[in-house]
Amino acid sequence: MTKSSLDVAFVRRQFPQLADGTAFFENAGGSLVPEAVKQRLLDFVERSFAQPSYDSEPSLISRRRMADGKRLAADLLGVEPQEIVLGPSTTLNFYVLAQALRPLFQPGDEIVVTNQDHEANVGAWRRLEEFGLVIREWQIDKKSGELRLADLDTLLSPKTKLVCVTHCSNVVGSVNDVAAVAARAKKVGALTVVDGVGYAPHHLIDARGLGVDAYACSAYKIFGTHLGILWVKPELAARAKPQNHYFIDSAPATLNPGGLTYELVAGLGGTGDYLDLLYRHHFGSGENSARARYARVFKLIEGHEARLGKRIVDFLKSRKSVRLIGEDGARAPIVCFAVAGKTSAEVAKALFAKRVAVGHGHFYAKRCVDALGLEGVIRISFAHYNDDAEVDRLIEALKEILPA
Ligand SMILES: Cc1ncc(COP(=O)(O)O)c(C=O)c1O
Repeated sequence: MTKSSLDVAFVRRQFPQLADGTAFFENAGGSLVPEAVKQRLLDFVERSFAQPSYDSEPSLISRRRMADGKRLAADLLGVEPQEIVLGPSTTLNFYVLAQALRPLFQPGDEIVVTNQDHEANVGAWRRLEEFGLVIREWQIDKKSGELRLADLDTLLSPKTKLVCVTHCSNVVGSVNDVAAVAARAKKVGALTVVDGVGYAPHHLIDARGLGVDAYACSAYKIFGTHLGILWVKPELAARAKPQNHYFIDSAPATLNPGGLTYELVAGLGGTGDYLDLLYRHHFGSGENSARARYARVFKLIEGHEARLGKRIVDFLKSRKSVRLIGEDGARAPIVCFAVAGKTSAEVAKALFAKRVAVGHGHFYAKRCVDALGLEGVIRISFAHYNDDAEVDRLIEALKEILPA
């Protein structure tokens, strides 16, 4: 009964919103939600909308449901639930982390940020300049948008205390070798903080195995609820300055001053139900550990997305008016381009008219788009529930808009 490729028709039946007929290619902005997540949310609201810290029946159910959500978040990153912060967003998680790490640095210490990252992993660190920290910018190649490790090497020194980098830019789409970045940072005694928001919806992460010190992603882009997931290495979390109430003194609660949004944490358990449903459908039973099941599901997802991505990239390369961002190489399902003589908004509008939804603009990676010398880019970002028929529709629509 084992299937060697993703049964996309089965996948699509799990996402009620797909029934509206729009070919949805703006998943990097936020993914669709499977039925299983909706069920967990409803179940929580109907049966256990209670403080999870007491012993009443609703409270116990609430606690169990929230533990399922936290477990799923931890399993996505290959870490333990007690090492995870679930905050409102990655932007806020990084902001809090920056405040918490600040006392570990001295005036004159250096932080490397990129101009490829989403502002979430830039602005929070740049704010530390006012405390005497020195910000060094690792800049992209202005033509391709790629970050080069050789350029990072010129910035690193014993003064470097932190390197902040994206695993996959939400504009350039190519996958950065964050393990190599972390190894270089470690050599000079610096920490590494990684933004995995663009990468995590497409691959199972091994945060500890990458050798990084903190890794963040956003659950609402991984078929989950609107939460940011942050893993901080326990040794570092313990040294970070608590940001919560003075009497909350154990990490990682110290890194979550706002507390948890109960129903969203509980709803996240539905993402685990969904991945398990895919596992059973494709492989039957067998694997006891959730990580092992998810690993096999993500392998199917990777194969499917790589195939769709190649179709889209090959088509865009065939159009003379197109400037494709990023080079050939490992690419997440994020394909951005600009069109000579047209604004990104114009192209996107023409696609919307054909019920093909894409993104346009800078997607809060403004430094990146500015460095590329563009007013904006058109972004085709897809997920495993996109199918060949939708890619056909996208390509047909693009053929009408883009000169050959
Ligand atoms: C690559 C990347 N990093 C960070 C963020 C910020 O995530 P959040 O919306 O959870 O703050 C986004 C959001 O689009 C993103 O695409």
